[in-house]
Amino acid sequence: SAAEKGGYDYFMLKEIAEQPKAVADTLLGRIDASGSLTLDEVRIPPGVLREVDKVVIVACGTAFHAGLIAKYAIEHWTRIPCEVELASEFRYRDPILDPRTLVIAISQSGETMDTLMALRHAREQGSRVLAICNTNGSTIPRESDAVLYTHAGPEVAVASTKAFLTQLVACYLVALYLGQVRGTKWGDEIRAVIRDLSRISGAVERVLETMEPVRELARTLADKNTVLFLGRHVGYPVALEGALKLKELAYMHAEGFAAGELKHGPIALIEQDLPVVVVVPSPRGRSVLHDKIVSNIQEIRARGARTIVVAEEGDEAVVPYADHLIRIPATPTLLQPLVATVPLQVFACELATARGNEVDQPRNLAKSVTVE
Ligand code: G6P
Repeated sequence: SAAEKGGYDYFMLKEIAEQPKAVADTLLGRIDASGSLTLDEVRIPPGVLREVDKVVIVACGTAFHAGLIAKYAIEHWTRIPCEVELASEFRYRDPILDPRTLVIAISQSGETMDTLMALRHAREQGSRVLAICNTNGSTIPRESDAVLYTHAGPEVAVASTKAFLTQLVACYLVALYLGQVRGTKWGDEIRAVIRDLSRISGAVERVLETMEPVRELARTLADKNTVLFLGRHVGYPVALEGALKLKELAYMHAEGFAAGELKHGPIALIEQDLPVVVVVPSPRGRSVLHDKIVSNIQEIRARGARTIVVAEEGDEAVVPYADHLIRIPATPTLLQPLVATVPLQVFACELATARGNEVDQPRNLAKSVTVE
């Protein structure tokens, strides 16, 4: 009913709007007054976490994209090697697992069969499994050694939005917690990131306030057949997620590419007027990546692409090459997906509406897939 949708036309719009709160709720009670993490609910003894020599993340769909982003954070902050794998591929390739492997299973519903089978396989090999899940008491947390719940609240729309942002927050918390428990040399950086994380909900709020031009742009693209997405570093999984949202909701051909791979193939796809969304890393921090992606934008624009550039406020270098510019607040590089994903969700939702599609119940999809 309309009341359930809180006055929004679709659950998806309501859930997109709830993201600042979902992000804040997922942090609530997990950072103490001294700025340290208190994740007592992660019932894996610190002694065991100190011995972990490999992290393996398994998930499906949007949760898999959260896992791809988590890899950057985990490896950077903890120096523990981290692999991310589609749950459906994982157990069939005889993965190398042992008691020092920490497996993280990410699932909104906690009922995805592929993810469940992957974690069962991992536990049979003696690995510990930590679930990141949004549904209390669901099967995946029940069968895991520990669980960190995302506090997104119920997500009804099939296409995941607020659950994704909270999965990212939970992944950052796990990465930082591993760093804290293991006393990595990034102590100061970890504290700074925890501070930045506690401000991120406000940044997501600000993105939501500036989405009208994104909706207008989406409506002008309703008759297109293809949209490409490019990103680098953590912007690459964001590009994949932007493309997935467009497939799910707008039923358009959409693909995400690592911008550095353009020259190895995808650039052949660029033609006159092809919309290409580019997620631009911060010009601060890893500025090499920023400069490289600016050249990528120039290259595709010279070949006729219509460039839709998602870039940090104050990033002036992109302005001459952006046919459309979507501004996001400045954040530390690793946290940028929390703000960069939001315009892509809005974009896909509006395109779906413009194409007359069922936003909350896209054809052929289920919210939770309980068969393999
Ligand atoms: C289905 C949904 C996706 C979701 C995926 C994983 O395919 O349509 O939106 O990302 O399952 O779901 P989970 O509940 O495990 O996060």
